[in-house]
Amino acid sequence: MLTLGIESSCDDTAIAILEDNKVVISLRSGQDNIHTLFGGVVPELASREHLRAIQPLFDTALRQAQCSLDDINLIAATQGPGLVGSLLVGFSYAKALACVKNIPLVGVDHIAGHLLSVFLQNPETPPAFPFLSLLVSGGNTALYLVKGFTEFECVGRTRDDAAGEAFDKVAKLLGLPYPGGPEVSRLAEIGNKDAFSFPRSWLNNSLDFSFSGVKTAVRNQVNQLKQKKNAPPSLPIEDICASFQEAVIDVLSKKTMQAAKRYGINDIAISGGVSANSALRQRLIDCCTREGCHFYAPQPQFCTDNAAMIAFAGKMHYLQQGKCITPLVADVFSRSALGQ
Ligand code: KG4
Repeated sequence: MLTLGIESSCDDTAIAILEDNKVVISLRSGQDNIHTLFGGVVPELASREHLRAIQPLFDTALRQAQCSLDDINLIAATQGPGLVGSLLVGFSYAKALACVKNIPLVGVDHIAGHLLSVFLQNPETPPAFPFLSLLVSGGNTALYLVKGFTEFECVGRTRDDAAGEAFDKVAKLLGLPYPGGPEVSRLAEIGNKDAFSFPRSWLNNSLDFSFSGVKTAVRNQVNQLKQKKNAPPSLPIEDICASFQEAVIDVLSKKTMQAAKRYGINDIAISGGVSANSALRQRLIDCCTREGCHFYAPQPQFCTDNAAMIAFAGKMHYLQQGKCITPLVADVFSRSALGQ
C-alpha cells in the first residue's frame, strides 16, 4: 500500500511516500531564510512560499520514489492545527489530487502525526500502548496518553507559549537567528546553567505548562544587564541560554515524570521539534532510568515537521477506522481538539 503524505501547517512544505510502514521518500522545503529576517514566521509569506514549493516538491518525490500518482492508494494531508493560509495550500492540493484520480483522502491532525512519529523507521522496539508522549514543538506543548494509533487523551497542555515558541522568542531577544531553538541549545552547551535563576511555573499540581513567565524573566534580566553601570560590552549570551534552557527542561521533565506516575505509565516518548534538543533527551533518559521507565524518541529527521508522520497517522486512521475517509468539502482547522 502506497500512502502519499502532505504537510504544510506552518513554514515547512513536506511530501512523503510510505510503502506500508516503510518511508520510501520524505522531502522538505523549509523557509527559514525568509522568516529569519522577521525573527518569526510571517503567515502571509509562509502561504505564498508553500504555493511556490509544493508542485516541484511533489514532482521530485514521485520521481525519486520511481512511481506515479496512479500507484498511490491513499493521500493523507494535514488538516490542522496550524496557520490557516498555510494549511489551505497543502490540504487543497491533496484534495485536487484525490479528486482527479479518485484516491481516498484522510485529513490528519498534525499533533497525531507528531505523537506517532516514534514509530517511523525506528530500529528499536516501539513503545507499547498506552504510552505517554511529551509533545514539544513551536506551536504546541502538551502531554498525551497515546492509547492506540487513533486514540489519544490530552492530560496537560500549555496555557500560553509553547516551549519552542519560548526558545524562538528568547533567541530573538538575544539577536540570534530564527528558528532559535537549535542556536540557543548550541550556545547553552558552553554556558553555565546556574549563572541565572529563571522562574519555573509549576501551576500547583497541574500537568499544564506555562512558559511566558520564564521568557519575560529573560527579557528583564537582559534589560537589567544592559543598564548596569560599567556593563561589559557584550551580554553573557551562553550563560543566559544555558540558564533559560535549564528552566524549561526542568519543568518539562518533572511534569512528564509526574504524569507517568499519576497514570501508571512505564513507556515514555517525546515528539516535536524541541525533542531534537539533546539536553532535554538526556534529562528524560536519566529520569526514566531512575524511575525504571523506558524512553523512546523519533529519529532526528522526524522530530521537526515532516510528511512521513502525516502519511503514517493517516494510513493508521484509514485502516483502523474502517477505511474512513475525509469528504472533499472538509475545511482546515486552526486549533486541535485531539484527545480533549
Ligand atoms: O515541530 P516543529 O518543526 O514545528 C511545529 O510543529 O511547531 O518545531 C519547530 C520548533 C521551533 O520552535 C524550533 O526552535 C524548535 O522546534 N527546535 C528546538 C531545537 N530544534 C528545533 N528547540 C530547542 N532545541 C533544539 N535543538
